[in-house]
Amino acid sequence: MQELNRLLENVLPKGSEFEIYHLKSPSREINGFRNQKFKRYDAVIKCSHFLAIAYNGKIFFAIDVNIYFEVMNNSMSRTFFVSKADTNGFLDDKNVKISLIVETFLYYLIKLTPACYLEKVIPHSRNYKFFNNQNIITKKTTTKNGFQILSERCKPSNTYRAGIKDLAFKKFNLNNTKTFVTKISLFTRPEPHYLFTGSGNNSKKHLLSGENLLKWWLRIVDSLSKNQELFKQDENLLGTLELPGEDSGFVERRYLKQLSQHWKRGSIYGQSEDPLFEIPIFHDDPKTRFLKDLIVELKYDLFHLKDFWRELEVRQEFRSGIVVGVIGVSGMTPLVVKNQNPSELETLIAPSKAKYKQIKSYVVGEEYDEEEGAIDARDNLREIWLSFQKTNFSVTGKYVSEKNMVLKKPNEINVVTFRRKPKSDMR
Ligand code: ACO
Repeated sequence: MQELNRLLENVLPKGSEFEIYHLKSPSREINGFRNQKFKRYDAVIKCSHFLAIAYNGKIFFAIDVNIYFEVMNNSMSRTFFVSKADTNGFLDDKNVKISLIVETFLYYLIKLTPACYLEKVIPHSRNYKFFNNQNIITKKTTTKNGFQILSERCKPSNTYRAGIKDLAFKKFNLNNTKTFVTKISLFTRPEPHYLFTGSGNNSKKHLLSGENLLKWWLRIVDSLSKNQELFKQDENLLGTLELPGEDSGFVERRYLKQLSQHWKRGSIYGQSEDPLFEIPIFHDDPKTRFLKDLIVELKYDLFHLKDFWRELEVRQEFRSGIVVGVIGVSGMTPLVVKNQNPSELETLIAPSKAKYKQIKSYVVGEEYDEEEGAIDARDNLREIWLSFQKTNFSVTGKYVSEKNMVLKKPNEINVVTFRRKPKSDMR
């Protein structure tokens, strides 16, 4: 059994009380992950995780991660797309190391067994005629038939079992899976806020500049990639950084030199002369927006990866002078991962995608110009967790920092700095 709370208390400040709200969506089969024309998988299953942490009755941090499983005949790959991580500054001057929280959460997710996602998957489409015959009530059942089915179920002779509704889900078996690849993918770009609207106005919020954010993520992802519990440390392990518009020597000297040997400039989607087929279509990702434009403009088949990165540089998200990077890791998964199930006591698994979005909206739908937003978000999450009988969300931190962080004054910390382009690029 994997316990997130036990892991997180080891990276939260010693003696302080925190609340951990971990929400998971149901797994569902999706259509588009790579361009349909070139897909090589039998099914793609998506699941989302949302983690929010509160201190002193206020949510102060949240992260959004989507996982995509590509299931093939005897191989499987899963891609962790870190969509957004954000803070809001309502931490009452408590010194919390956000990088440790992020790394720990990703470690926890990568260690979870894929089976826990693939045993009960909402299928792409359902055969409702089949369910009618099984006396299952679905959205296609008329009210009259629904009542009839319910009254049948009440009869003593009826053999209906609650578990029969599992027929409405697909199950993917991993027994024949010989190769098992894990990928991490993320796009780094600093913004005043991502998940906490208006929090950029809080002068106590610590904002990392584009360059520092990129280095921050590289440190986290490098640490995960060299953990042999998560990735086999063999020749298949690859860490990549693409910085559209920067030359390779500069990228290596400035960002990759300090990392492990398996890092190189480029992407996990192929070499510069390769076509674009390996670039995944993630939800809410600038690369995806560009990819979709290329499909509409009928340029998708004509472009190579090098054209893609070159053209991406002039897209709005990339050209504002802020350092923006695309980080990727790909490697084989060790067998040990296959046994780790999440603890049901601490994870709230939303019964549907709509419910997941609704619960998440109690955090992302608030305004964080003032601390009321952070208080309301925490109070709402607490109520929801209790209504689902999830009472296991309080932890006491155990982490003692080696170095004492000197908190800057509020007006000094909320400044995103811009880096000038290196001289060689200024033509
Ligand atoms: N005063 C001085 N230094 C501080 C302060 C402060 N108030 N807070 C943090 N620091 C220092 C830390 O000591 C640490 O320094 P070190 O690396 O030398 O040890 C460094 O800043 C990073 O601190 P963390 O606690 O790890 O992270 P931080 O609090 O800066 O949070 C985050 C990082 C979430 C990215 C934050 O900057 C933020 O909310 N940014 C806005 C949203 C954003 O841009 N998100 C990233 C999007 S990209 C993506 O999510 C894939």
